[in-house]
Amino acid sequence: MEQTLYFILLLIALCSVSECVQRQYYFINVKKTWTEAQRYCRENYTDLATIDNMNDMNEVKKIVDDERRQYVWIGLQKTGVEKWQWSSGDPALYQNWAPTQPNNGEERCAVIKNGQWHDGLYSYTRNFICNNTNTGLVYVNQMKIWRDAQSYCRQNHIDLVSVRNQNENQQVQQFISNDSHRSDDVWIGLFRDSWQWSDQSNSSFRYWRSDEPSNAGGNENCAAIINTAPREWNDVSCSERYPFVCHEDKLILIKENLTWSEALRYCRQNHVDLVSVHSEEIQRRVMNVVQQASTGAVWLGLHNYCLMNMWLWLSGEIVCYQNWAPGNGAEPEDCRLEKRKGAVQSGGDQRWISLPESHKLNFICSRY
Ligand SMILES: *[C@@H]1O[C@H](CO)[C@@H](O)[C@H](O)[C@H]1NC(C)=O
Ligand SMILES: *[C@@H]1O[C@H](CO)[C@@H](O)[C@H](O)[C@H]1NC(C)=O
Ligand SMILES: *[C@@H]1O[C@H](CO)[C@@H](O)[C@H](O)[C@H]1NC(C)=O
Repeated sequence: MEQTLYFILLLIALCSVSECVQRQYYFINVKKTWTEAQRYCRENYTDLATIDNMNDMNEVKKIVDDERRQYVWIGLQKTGVEKWQWSSGDPALYQNWAPTQPNNGEERCAVIKNGQWHDGLYSYTRNFICNNTNTGLVYVNQMKIWRDAQSYCRQNHIDLVSVRNQNENQQVQQFISNDSHRSDDVWIGLFRDSWQWSDQSNSSFRYWRSDEPSNAGGNENCAAIINTAPREWNDVSCSERYPFVCHEDKLILIKENLTWSEALRYCRQNHVDLVSVHSEEIQRRVMNVVQQASTGAVWLGLHNYCLMNMWLWLSGEIVCYQNWAPGNGAEPEDCRLEKRKGAVQSGGDQRWISLPESHKLNFICSRY
């Protein structure tokens, strides 16, 4: 009974855990068409790079080589199907168009006017509303085109406002009419496009240069980073050959302090398993992930079979590739009192150590 209660409490606690999905980016300095680059990334990593937000984009900016005027592919490609999305990444489930709206295929962003939405051209200039974490809605009394309004909000607040339900729609409309100096026709964060990420994720983050995508050549169906600061995006023909960025997101660091058995249970319920480190390659990924840990060591899917003094991975294999810290892993373990499990040091040279299983550590789940 007590134990059941304990696990319920544990699960409640874990539901609020922030998971650091480690999406590792790799710059591949080999010129390939977009489709060849996609194949290369899928074979060697997870996919051509998906970029979810400005943090991701800043990571990518750090790794692309500074070759002026060179383009660099990312995993964004045009499809035939347009869909409405919020600039902030929220799904556009609730929509509140005025009758007969949206009514123009060229009008791909939206204003709110008397509580109802109208489509508009990116090139119209309007006042706009940003969302700010601390202060909430912010009215910006400047006339800007939609894309510049978006940049302004991202630089100074969070993003253009999302209106996700009737309640928020009323709030926004009330906010506008509170002040008679406000325009009755202002940008919100809604836009539509037909760009889709290669890994099928629904990220609506876009970082186009303000005059792009232009489809200037008539056949510009793939997105690339313009490799000079500020490294915004352009649409270009997919058959051009450019270097590219892949990403990999297989391992997840869970920054919660659990015993080895609790960690195992968590990974199996929420992902696949505690990670098994069969190779130097996986060890390299583990080393990337554990840098952000809040404990000195991080549980791996490594356990000691005491009777035979043998170390095994959860996946069943014995430990072939080895990365033990001196004094760990080799000598017979003293497991009369408590079983021993394997962890990786989060600092230093990040080798493996043997610890009693009741230690409470961060841990790494695998998703494959
Ligand atoms: C404003 O941003 C905060 C923080 O990201 C978010 O929690 C909130 O839902 C947003 N509100 C609106 C109306 O977009
Ligand atoms: C993307 O959105 C669609 C529809 O909203 C959903 O069915 C799909 O699972 C989402 N894909 C991912 C990777 O989240
Ligand atoms: C886990 O333990 C570390 C080190 O003792 C501590 O800094 C961190 O705040 C703990 N994290 C949680 C979520 O309790």
